[in-house]
Amino acid sequence: METPVTPAANHPIPVHPGLPLLGNSLDFVRDPLGALRMYRRLYDQDDGRHIVRLSVGGRIQQLVFRPEDAKQVLQENHRNYGRSPAFQVLKLFLGEGLLTSDGDFWLRQRRLSQPAFHRRKLAILAETMIQEGYYWVEQLSAVAGSQPVNISQSLMDTTMRIVCKTLFGADAGQRLNQDLSYSLEMVNYLANKLLIIPVRFPLWVPTPDNLKFKKATRLVNQLIYGFINARRQTGARHDDLLDMLLYAEDADTGERMSDLQLRDECVTLFMAGHETTAVSMGWTLYLLSQHPEVLQKLHEEVDQVLGGNQPLTVDDLRALPYTGQVVQESMRLYPPAWIMSRLALQDDRIQGYTIPANTSVLVSPYLLHRDPVQWPDPDRFDPDRFAPGCDKERHPFAYIPFGAGPRLCIGNQFALMEMQILLALFARRFTISAPPVSPPGLQPLITLRPKQPIRLVIICR
Ligand code: HEM
Repeated sequence: METPVTPAANHPIPVHPGLPLLGNSLDFVRDPLGALRMYRRLYDQDDGRHIVRLSVGGRIQQLVFRPEDAKQVLQENHRNYGRSPAFQVLKLFLGEGLLTSDGDFWLRQRRLSQPAFHRRKLAILAETMIQEGYYWVEQLSAVAGSQPVNISQSLMDTTMRIVCKTLFGADAGQRLNQDLSYSLEMVNYLANKLLIIPVRFPLWVPTPDNLKFKKATRLVNQLIYGFINARRQTGARHDDLLDMLLYAEDADTGERMSDLQLRDECVTLFMAGHETTAVSMGWTLYLLSQHPEVLQKLHEEVDQVLGGNQPLTVDDLRALPYTGQVVQESMRLYPPAWIMSRLALQDDRIQGYTIPANTSVLVSPYLLHRDPVQWPDPDRFDPDRFAPGCDKERHPFAYIPFGAGPRLCIGNQFALMEMQILLALFARRFTISAPPVSPPGLQPLITLRPKQPIRLVIICR
């Protein structure tokens, strides 16, 4: 057996050649996932080297491949890693919400927000998810038949309705829905553009992008401050996330969040919680369309637990483990957050290499989830990988769809519950007649979207 190479101190990290000025940015513009796979092929070596240095968006970024290294960055040495400059772009829109803030401010906000996602609170929010799930299935029944249904759009609408209701107790009326969808779409598009080519005029310069950005922010602010003001004026209490955030108190000072903090947290929850879940559910149904044997097993579980028209309750979810496994396996193959980046605050050592302060480290759930060492036959869809006891051989960081360490997604249980509910209700009512004629293709923006909407022919059972 060959002895792995332990790089000597100061041994340079392998650098992937790039173009003058642009570095490796074009790889990420053309085909980011293809680029990630290529980097792994070239730099995830059996000889002990598992890292490559890239230059993307004018910044030095080290891409790591091993779960141990992801663990070091996200958990063990997390204090040395802050939000990367990429988050500055999102900050323009999200302000100092949980996703974009750092340090003591982040910690305080996280402590204030965490109780809103407690298991008991989630059980209340699950009722809303179930109601909206029924509504979704009814809508789909009306269009089920021989024509393909735009599943991606119907899921975007549904997760939007769920997030509106669980966050603000509000029905996603047409204007709310349109304004928020427009704004989120716009910010997503502009943020992606800036992440890859970070040439930006200050916001006061009336470029077309700046004008669109300002319009999106204005619309969102009007809506969110509208909700906050209405609550402050009436003082009425509600069973929703905004209520929990409004009344959350700092344990040391007794202080509550200001309107601005509330606005930033609400927009963040909205942005982080709506599209990720919709996209993930879309991939789940797409995978099921390709794997009738898995759909069959799912039907059997759902029929056994829920019967024909027994109402679904939160307690039923525990009796639907296979439904949960299908969701988990789909997030393995198509993790909505396909890449995460961190900024090294001080020098660090990874695999004996120096990670210089002020450079970024990239951790890709997409690559980790398809690592053949951790996942035999990694591209195969097999929900039994998540059957009880099957994770013994795997490194815990081989599967991180919700991130890991202290910055673990605060909405992970919320999202899993929502997807399990939607999938169970879908499977009870429908079957999928065949996969789409042409596969939808992947478009990795901030989330791992399909290039075209997923359209499926669904049939009532
Ligand atoms: C399938 C659905 C979801 C996926 C895959 C997902 C994924 C992630 C990931 C990977 C992170 C960590 C990012 C990093 O460390 O850089 C994160 C953070 C976060 N997510 Fe989610 N998320 C999902 C749903 C949700 C939902 C439903 C909510 C809220 C209702 C939410 C709210 C947040 C927030 C606030 C953060 C920042 C947490 C912090 O830094 O303290 N997410 N999410």
